[in-house]
Amino acid sequence: MSDLITQELAVRTIGLGKSYGKGDSIVHALKGVDFDARCGELLMIVGPSGCGKTTLLSVICGTLRCDSGTVTVFGEDLSQMRSGKLTAFRGKNVGFVFQQFNLIPTWSALENVSVPLLLNGSTQAQAEKAAAELLKEVGIGEKLRALPTQLSGGQQQRVAIARALVHEPRLLICDEPTAALDAASGRRVLELLKERACRPDRAVIVVTHDSRIFPFADRIAEMEDGRMKAVHGPGECQSLYV
Ligand SMILES: Nc1ncnc2c1ncn2[C@@H]1O[C@H](COP(=O)(O)OP(=O)(O)OP(=O)(O)O)[C@@H](O)[C@H]1O
Ligand SMILES: [Mg+2]
Repeated sequence: MSDLITQELAVRTIGLGKSYGKGDSIVHALKGVDFDARCGELLMIVGPSGCGKTTLLSVICGTLRCDSGTVTVFGEDLSQMRSGKLTAFRGKNVGFVFQQFNLIPTWSALENVSVPLLLNGSTQAQAEKAAAELLKEVGIGEKLRALPTQLSGGQQQRVAIARALVHEPRLLICDEPTAALDAASGRRVLELLKERACRPDRAVIVVTHDSRIFPFADRIAEMEDGRMKAVHGPGECQSLYV
C-alpha cells in the first residue's frame, strides 16, 4: 500500500446534513459529517444502529439528496448534479451492495448480476458470460438460474455482491456485506473485494458490525449520532474491537 496521505480522494463530504420527516417527528440522521475515502483503500464505517451509516452511504452514492453540505465523488460534486446526470454517473462509477440485498425477485441470479452491464451497453451474451464467471468466483456457480427466493440469505448476499462488482465500478459501497455469511464465506468476500475493487484508482467503503472482517480495513471510521467520532488508521484496524 502506497502512502495513504498522498493518495487521491475518491470521496469527500463536508458538513453533510440530512433529516427525515418534519415538525415534531423530524429525525436528524446526519448532523454535519466530514469524511473522506481515498483511492486504493478499503475503508470501513462502524457505529451503533441508527447512527446514520446507511443514510451516509445513500448520500455518497447519490440515491439520496443531502439537505446541507457537499459530497464530492472522484472530483464531481453530486450535491449540484442534475438527476439525469447523477443517475448516469452512478450507473458507470458506483456499485452498491444494499443492507436488504434489493435483488429483483422474478429474475434469476444470473439475470440480476447481468443488469449493470446491460445498463452500460453490453450485449446479453457478454453480460451473462461475465455474470456467470463472477457468480462462480463468489461460490454459487451452481445456482445461476435460481430465483432469489430459492436462495439462502448468504447466497442472496453473494449475488448482491457480484451484481455490485460486475461492471468494475470505481467506487464500491457495501452496507453490511457479510451480515448473512459464515466466517469462511465472509473472508472470501472480503478477499474478493480487496482483489477486485482495491486498485489505485478505485475505493471501497464497507459499513459493518462484523469485527471478524476489521483486519481487512485500511482505515476504520467510527460514527456516533449523526457525526464522525474518530478515524482509525492502518495498524489500529487489526486490534480494534476484536
Ligand atoms: N426513510 C426514513 N424515514 C424516517 N427516518 C429514517 C428513514 N431512514 C432512516 N431514518 C432514521 O434515521 C436515523 C439513521 O438511520 P440509518 O438507517 O442511516 O442508520 P444506520 O446507522 O444505518 O443503522 P443500522 O445499523 O441499524 O442499519 C435513524 O434514527 C432512522 O430511524
Ligand atoms: Mg443501516
